[in-house]
Amino acid sequence: MICKDLNFHRRLSVAPMLDFTDRHERFFLRLLSKNVLLYTEMIVANALLHAGPRFLQHDPVENPVALQLGGSDPKMLAECAKIVEGAGFDEVNLNCGCPSERVQSGSFGAMLMKQKDLVAECVQSMKKEVQIPVTVKTRIGVDDFTGWEFFEDFIRTVHSAGCDTFIIHARTARLRGYSPKENREKPAIHYETVYKLKEVFPQLNISVNGDIRTIDQAKEHLKHVDGVMMGRAVYANPWMLATADSEIYGGKDFAPQTRKALLEAFLPYVQKAQAEGCPLSVLTKHLYGIFTGFPGGRKFRQILSEGAPKALDGAALIRTAMDAVEEIGFP
Ligand SMILES: Cc1cc2nc3c(=O)[nH]c(=O)nc-3n(C[C@H](O)[C@H](O)[C@H](O)COP(=O)(O)O)c2cc1C
Repeated sequence: MICKDLNFHRRLSVAPMLDFTDRHERFFLRLLSKNVLLYTEMIVANALLHAGPRFLQHDPVENPVALQLGGSDPKMLAECAKIVEGAGFDEVNLNCGCPSERVQSGSFGAMLMKQKDLVAECVQSMKKEVQIPVTVKTRIGVDDFTGWEFFEDFIRTVHSAGCDTFIIHARTARLRGYSPKENREKPAIHYETVYKLKEVFPQLNISVNGDIRTIDQAKEHLKHVDGVMMGRAVYANPWMLATADSEIYGGKDFAPQTRKALLEAFLPYVQKAQAEGCPLSVLTKHLYGIFTGFPGGRKFRQILSEGAPKALDGAALIRTAMDAVEEIGFP
């Protein structure tokens, strides 16, 4: 299914996060918001071509959902984009922002910012093969490739190849000296650079990303850009999405009334996934943040983390953990 109104959904998106935004997390988040655009973890193009179906598994309930690719071979990426579209994803995104060493050795991610013409070629070649949007997630610079002129030139070049949607993590990446984690914490974030990008290229759809922690903050950013992408904050506190459908999209909230009702709604999925052979801990790790700050929240997490490796009945374990929590009021 191709989503016709993807830019509406793009007003708020959940960032691609390796080991975090797997299909189980996406299914869970979809119980909280009908509208938020979800991203897969980055899938390496080469791996997708060789072990395809495993990486493409998702439930239609997850849509609108975008798949992120890592790679730098235009032909291979084009082939992947076709597969991604055929598998029912609404968007294919190219990772030009990830600074991890593994990604560097594969010659993609943030280091691609240094090769604007190659990125343009990748985009052009992917676009030829698909109807769904081909988008780019990037930084405002990398290593010594920094400053407005560099950034503007990068965007202009990639735009001229047909990309009109960019998601910008508003800080520079350092490929040497910083770990991937440090690269998400420093150097300082520069939202103004992303706002300026929108002013200079009003025809582009621009999402800002990095250190955005609340729906209120997201709403502030939306005064300057078209979309906001949030990663760690949503993972740590998924419940924040419960008000996104009204606050961000101006509609009716879709989420269950309480966190416990949300978990009850997730249990049939847990039972099905477990029956299909998914280890319970792969499912329950996504629930850890749901009661953060509540009396019993820590106990909830402890029961799940200690019980999941051996529990045969995941739904029963989650209910036991829920009983340890006192949920006060809404939200
Ligand atoms: C555990 C983890 C894994 C990540 N994996 C990816 C990834 O696969 N692809 C990508 O483009 N960014 C990845 N990122 C970066 C996020 O998409 C996002 O740009 C970054 O965390 C900043 O946003 P935030 O401050 O809202 O978390 C990852 C971040 C984290 C914390």
